[in-house]
Amino acid sequence: MKVIIIAAVSKNGVIGLSNGKMPWHIKEEFRHFKETTFGFPVIMGRKTFETLGKPLSGRLNIVITRNRNIKLKAESLKVFNDLISAIKYCNENHFEKIFIIGGGEIYSQSISLSDEMILSHLDFDAEGDVYFPEFDKNDWEIKSTSKREKFEVVHYVRK
Ligand SMILES: NC(=O)c1ccc[n+]([C@@H]2O[C@H](COP(=O)([O-])OP(=O)(O)OC[C@H]3O[C@@H](n4cnc5c(N)ncnc54)[C@H](OP(=O)(O)O)[C@@H]3O)[C@@H](O)[C@H]2O)c1
Repeated sequence: MKVIIIAAVSKNGVIGLSNGKMPWHIKEEFRHFKETTFGFPVIMGRKTFETLGKPLSGRLNIVITRNRNIKLKAESLKVFNDLISAIKYCNENHFEKIFIIGGGEIYSQSISLSDEMILSHLDFDAEGDVYFPEFDKNDWEIKSTSKREKFEVVHYVRK
């Protein structure tokens, strides 16, 4: 099973705002995200889930929280109290790949656990206070790049 990070990152490293709002709205980027992740489990932090408001359709949504009393009930939604248990669950259920979809805290903990990263590098700076974690480019090989309007999708594979 492949563990794949997917994120959209501005030129200055921003991925979002801690008030939950998105600093940009790029339809084509959302389409790319949906097409890439559709049909596969998506793992996210509790804060990212709250910004979405409801599970993403056509995908098993896995939410990570330390809160053992949280009551989140919806179809295609599972809650885990740590990232490793969530990944283990997916592995045991023989998914071909799973996507780590954020946010900042979850990306930070996932870089070392991931096989691939599909990053949309936006071609502008954005205002925000949640950042994609620093990562060592030497650890990753670029498998492909795809230039779109306002962003470039770079597919990194661990060396
Ligand atoms: N640009 C992009 O591609 C992208 C993608 C996704 C999200 N975002 C943005 O990212 C921001 C949210 O990121 P964030 O860093 O604030 O929050 P986050 O990573 O979405 O969620 C953090 C929460 O996850 C839970 N958590 C984290 N580590 C855990 C662990 N080891 N074990 C158990 N639970 C754990 C905790 O939930 P509890 O507090 O409930 O315990 C924590 O408060 C938003 O602005 C969102 O829009 C951007």
